Amino acid sequence: MQHRIAKVSSRARSVVVTTVLVSCSVVALVAACNQTTGISPNDPALIAQGKDIFRFDTFGDETFWTDTLRMHEVIRSAVDPTTALSVGLKVDTDSLPAAVVAGIQNGSISLTSPATTVALLKLNAVVGVKGTVTNVGGQDVLTRVGITCALCHSTVDNSFAPGIGRRLDGWPNHDLNPGAIIALSSALTPAQKAVYNSWGKGKYDARYNFDGLNGPTVIPPAYGLKGVTSVTYTGDGAELAYWNRYVAVTQMHGHGSWVESRATPPQNVQNPPDMVTAKLAALQAYQLSIQSPPAPAGSFDATAAARGRLVFDGAGQCASCHIGSHFTDAPGRLHSPTEVVSEPEPNNAPSFASRSATKMYRSTPLRGLWQHAPYFHNGVATTLDGVVELYNTRKALNLTAQQKADLVQYLKSL
Ligand code: HEC
Ligand code: HEC
Repeated sequence: MQHRIAKVSSRARSVVVTTVLVSCSVVALVAACNQTTGISPNDPALIAQGKDIFRFDTFGDETFWTDTLRMHEVIRSAVDPTTALSVGLKVDTDSLPAAVVAGIQNGSISLTSPATTVALLKLNAVVGVKGTVTNVGGQDVLTRVGITCALCHSTVDNSFAPGIGRRLDGWPNHDLNPGAIIALSSALTPAQKAVYNSWGKGKYDARYNFDGLNGPTVIPPAYGLKGVTSVTYTGDGAELAYWNRYVAVTQMHGHGSWVESRATPPQNVQNPPDMVTAKLAALQAYQLSIQSPPAPAGSFDATAAARGRLVFDGAGQCASCHIGSHFTDAPGRLHSPTEVVSEPEPNNAPSFASRSATKMYRSTPLRGLWQHAPYFHNGVATTLDGVVELYNTRKALNLTAQQKADLVQYLKSL
């Protein structure tokens, strides 16, 4: 696919260069187009529009997931709901009519038939997957499929069954195995499939299709970002719209344009017509409206957490980088790979920062920590105890067992 993508984009580029230069997206790239809307980011109508985009908009990426990867054929022939759930896809019960819920409950609707997956897609009930189902000779056939932001950044509350429930937007789906899903495509070489299959659950490499390197990152939450003015693990952009455009155009393969001259080599993807730019303001407004889920009552010891806060500010030296109400010193200061405790990368992968626009790391804003293990861009700490242990060792903090335990309780409370 590497080669196919490269070919498609270079062909698209040569066609487009002359025709698209006047478009808002190319001239203004990210900021100006969003800022000329004249709509307040807190406008409820804008937020509602953004929610719809976040959940259901593919930006026309069916041309990739259907025409190039042929995922519609894989799904309709081989992906029954049990298989879909096993690779971490989620089903939204709010989209299911009562009869379907009853049918799943009493077993009259088979969860081992791909036809059921097609029926769920027709109901728009598979989180982050958008299908077009057409009646062909009296039978429902999946003819187009694409993905949305919700695929990776939403999950469900499991209120009906594991993997089936009500949507939780902004919560990273750490059951999802994006690499394993992509690897189902018949359009990939065995070598490419091996890379995709190596990523594992909850991880995705948003740089692989540019640099061919293999070092997936943990899917981060898309909540609690209001007031954060540095986005991505490496602080590549000042606002969400920057990264949203990157993902929509270069990862989901929606239609639009992306230019990043700081990358090595510089990136320039033109995939007209532009189905992204006009949606960025609403999409950003929606994400900024999603609050971090507070730590559940009883999930941490409040007295110990209060002591842990003193360790965070004092002996742990955490507050030298995790400052202010968002616990980050970005964008004012980013950190070199030698300063972080998460490198070297596992599996001898190259430094993730080296593959980014800044070549540095952003001190991650700390929020909803109880919810989104594993931690750090590469997930090297599977628990908050692991985080504290890593800092204690690598930064030679000499914290006592009590201080470490208290610090963990504080992190659990954030
Ligand atoms: C295939 C999975 C996947 C899809 C689909 C996806 N993302 Fe992400 N997202 C990621 C990964 C992985 C990262 C981490 C990348 C990095 O920081 O280098 C990320 C990073 C982000 C961040 C940065 C969070 C922070 O802490 O700065 C935001 C916000 C975000 N995505 C929103 C979106 C939106 C909006 C869409 C749809 C346009 C989207 N994502 C689609 C996987 C995905
Ligand atoms: C030198 C600056 C610096 C100091 C000091 C520091 N951090 Fe960090 N922290 C970072 C950076 C940069 C990252 C992102 C690294 C990555 O993702 O690999 C990070 C990531 C984290 C994360 C992961 C968050 C997530 O969502 O994955 C946690 C938790 C954390 N730090 C807690 C702490 C604690 C606790 C301390 C004190 C013991 C501390 N940090 C000290 C800079 C710092």
